[in-house]
Amino acid sequence: MAHARDRWSNRGAFIFAAIGSAIGLGNLWRFPFTAYDGGGGAFLIPYFVALITTGVPLLILEMGTGQYFQGGAPWALRKMNRKAEWVGWWALAGAAIITFYYCVIMGWSFIYFFHALNSALTGAAMPWAGGDGAAGAFFDSVLQVDGSLFFLPGPPIIWIVLGLAATWWLVYLIICKGVIRVGKVVMWTVPLPFIILIMLAISGFQLEGAANGLAFYLNPDMNRLSDPQVWLSAFGQVFFSLSVGFGVMTAYGSYLSKRTELTGSAWITALANCGTSFFAGFAVFATLGYLASQQGAVVSDVLKGGPGFVFVIYPEALSMLPFGDVMNALIAALLFACLLMLGIDSAFSIVEGVVTGLHDKFRIKRERLVRYYCYVGFIIGLLFCTPAGLTWLDIVDRWVNYIILVIGLGTCIVAGWFYPLDKIKAHINSVSLFKVGTLWTFAIRFFIPIVLAVIFTMAMIDNVMTPYSGYKMSWLLVGGWGAFFAALVIAFVIASMPSKKYADRDEAEGDDVPDEDEIEQRNRELIEAGRSPAE
Ligand code: PHE
Repeated sequence: MAHARDRWSNRGAFIFAAIGSAIGLGNLWRFPFTAYDGGGGAFLIPYFVALITTGVPLLILEMGTGQYFQGGAPWALRKMNRKAEWVGWWALAGAAIITFYYCVIMGWSFIYFFHALNSALTGAAMPWAGGDGAAGAFFDSVLQVDGSLFFLPGPPIIWIVLGLAATWWLVYLIICKGVIRVGKVVMWTVPLPFIILIMLAISGFQLEGAANGLAFYLNPDMNRLSDPQVWLSAFGQVFFSLSVGFGVMTAYGSYLSKRTELTGSAWITALANCGTSFFAGFAVFATLGYLASQQGAVVSDVLKGGPGFVFVIYPEALSMLPFGDVMNALIAALLFACLLMLGIDSAFSIVEGVVTGLHDKFRIKRERLVRYYCYVGFIIGLLFCTPAGLTWLDIVDRWVNYIILVIGLGTCIVAGWFYPLDKIKAHINSVSLFKVGTLWTFAIRFFIPIVLAVIFTMAMIDNVMTPYSGYKMSWLLVGGWGAFFAALVIAFVIASMPSKKYADRDEAEGDDVPDEDEIEQRNRELIEAGRSPAE
């Protein structure tokens, strides 16, 4: 069958969807603890360096190749070079790994949301209120954190499982019908959370000790810059946060008409995203300063960092708002609702990226693909719902950084060295507000591959010397490297499968890339023949 694609209803829908994908738990959950673990202000320098030199150029490359080749990451990479398809599948496999634990964190948010709602309705104090470590103790009790480090210390915790199920169900509902519905959902989920963040930040500033927290956040400690792990975290965080390196932005770009403006959208996405993270940092670190002053501790030692970090900080901050118990609980419920809303459009963007890749290659109905994906995601996610889940999650999330770096590197090498990058550049410049120039070419061909390779190697050496976070090597091998190589193997297997759909497209397009009129023409023919263009 001839090839035809779904389309965003307009450029605005695309920008909202891209922002929706970028802004998510990455900003409100991952950024704060990564910055905290990376030394606060010390982390911001590598973070902004990574953003400007690598994040944005790659974002433009991904959106641009998706739009130019009109396909998800595996297809686009295959069009650049027949042997490179697996890089695209590796990206998608890495993305899939993220969804497995991302949705579990959404599950935690559901639990917090319902507790807050309950307090707002009944007037009871929030279960994490009371200071003195109550928020930390509450988090541990929700997750039944078990420090004993058995592989499977017990069955999954039922409340988290319910939250996980609810999340997957929502993801399914939103994307089973294609990108049009996505465009509608993100119009709402993106703007709302800002109001709450502003409220938290303002009230946070008034707390005693807030200034110390902010000083820790904003004053760079230059000594930390020699630590390769800080650079690794910063690059990893920028990629994760911009949704770059996972084929998601390629998929979203592929639903753009070939005449739609591109680089302006990419910049808007990047700025909105990193602005949100930076801003969330103010709310979080002001509260941290307060906690430090209460405990008479220095800011860098108040809390254990890691994935549980904001689930202690936000509840603590929320229980200290000056509006009275009921109102505070209501605001808490709203914040967790926001976390869920922000998270959901990121979660489904990843699923969308993977499904687009599979749907480009295999003749399976979209809806069925989404359904299977949700089942598999739910089942694998159960591992993270056990009392050892937090440890697993911490390890896998850490190793996702490695996967991203390697894939970013691979994508740049393929686009920069195994395909005439100028063609992609010419396409991007023919539609874009801001033209990309020699700096961009230099970034893709030289700068990014070299920097990523250096950081990866150094972090690797460092890792062998000191196991991450003091975990046992066996855990890191299974959870970290296991995930890393499993994704690679799966990528090779899928890339080596034959595809009738690819063959049909090859025949229709040859080595060319279809132009807009051809695509429109095919869409029209399909619709006249009574078929959906999304098929
Ligand atoms: N960018 C999203 C966030 O910050 C997460 C994400 C990662 C989305 C990878 C797509 C791909 O929460």
